[in-house]
Amino acid sequence: MKAVELTENIYWVGGIDWDLRNFHGYSTQRGSTYNAYLIIDEKVTLIDTVKDYLYDEMIERISSVIDPTEIDYVVSNHVEMDHSGGLPELMELIPEATVFTSPKGKAGLKAHYKKDWNFSVVKSNQSLDLGQRSLQFVLTPMVHWPDNMVAYLPEDKILFSNDAFGQHIASSERFDDQLAYDVIMEEASKYYANIVLPYSGQVERILPTVEELDLEIVAPSHGVVWRNHIAEILEQYEKWANNQTEEKAVIVYDTMWDSTKKIAETLGGTFAAQGVSTRMMSLDANHISDIMTEVLTAKYICVGSPTLNNNLLPSVASFLTYLKGLAPKNRYGLAFGSYGWGGQSVDQIEEVLEEIGFELLEQIKYQYIPDGEKLKEEVAEKLDESNE
Ligand code: FEO
Repeated sequence: MKAVELTENIYWVGGIDWDLRNFHGYSTQRGSTYNAYLIIDEKVTLIDTVKDYLYDEMIERISSVIDPTEIDYVVSNHVEMDHSGGLPELMELIPEATVFTSPKGKAGLKAHYKKDWNFSVVKSNQSLDLGQRSLQFVLTPMVHWPDNMVAYLPEDKILFSNDAFGQHIASSERFDDQLAYDVIMEEASKYYANIVLPYSGQVERILPTVEELDLEIVAPSHGVVWRNHIAEILEQYEKWANNQTEEKAVIVYDTMWDSTKKIAETLGGTFAAQGVSTRMMSLDANHISDIMTEVLTAKYICVGSPTLNNNLLPSVASFLTYLKGLAPKNRYGLAFGSYGWGGQSVDQIEEVLEEIGFELLEQIKYQYIPDGEKLKEEVAEKLDESNE
């Protein structure tokens, strides 16, 4: 396995996780990569590592261009183990190397690995001389953990952005002009919706700094490297971070005897008839992380469950827990469902949607089996009232 040249003397030396299908609850149907980057200069520098089980792959790629024991500096942009997992074994190989990281990065690495490596703690805007090149660090707390930082290489106009701008894609192609644009953007939006979304406020604050940089390459820690579509991904991040939505309704539901499904279908038909782009997303047929990709740009989030034992169906409760954690903003929420007697589910959904901060549309609730025509009229009436 070989290193891939980004530009002269700068290489991708990461690992490809072809079989990854579950990233703590996020369904990664295209696998992923953990991107480590090697800069060969007077000080040989490695930026981030890989998950521990891909350490040998990373070393093989490094070895294709230089003896790994020649590494002087390791930059740890992020403690999370998909990027630091290879560090303990690497540091056994290069115990004299200096590890550059943020203050919280040092604390996090020590808490994870219980090692006292030669740490050098960096601040925002601090520059590190590598010889012909330099790295400028910018601390980016909560994009994605408190320790996160990014590194900019002004001489080659490369931003090593770590989790930001990533996509979970396993491929032999390394650049954004080598894979289908729609696939890359779909995975970038899924990644934002499922990982970055709760930290949109922090992204909004850091984006102006990124936009001021002279950029020819944006090298994230997952997926392909951006060199052709940098403007497009920055524009998307601005929209997503601002919680900009489209006239789009996502209808998420589970059902027992198809009554809640009937309400869902009627809701979907009514939104579509009003010219609202509609996505029907049964929890039986869709993974919650794919639903979140649609939620990312949807103005209306409708959630339906019948009442089971005075509660929601567990699948709906699980989705609501996930949605609440990811906390999209500036949305309308609508709760719906059927019931036999207790009928608590719809109020329980509303409670969560309200907690997230959604503006509530009038709920839709039916006992036993809804009457088709009557249901259509009532749903249309309620949506009309909500739009007034
Ligand atoms: Fe890809 Fe937050 O680690």
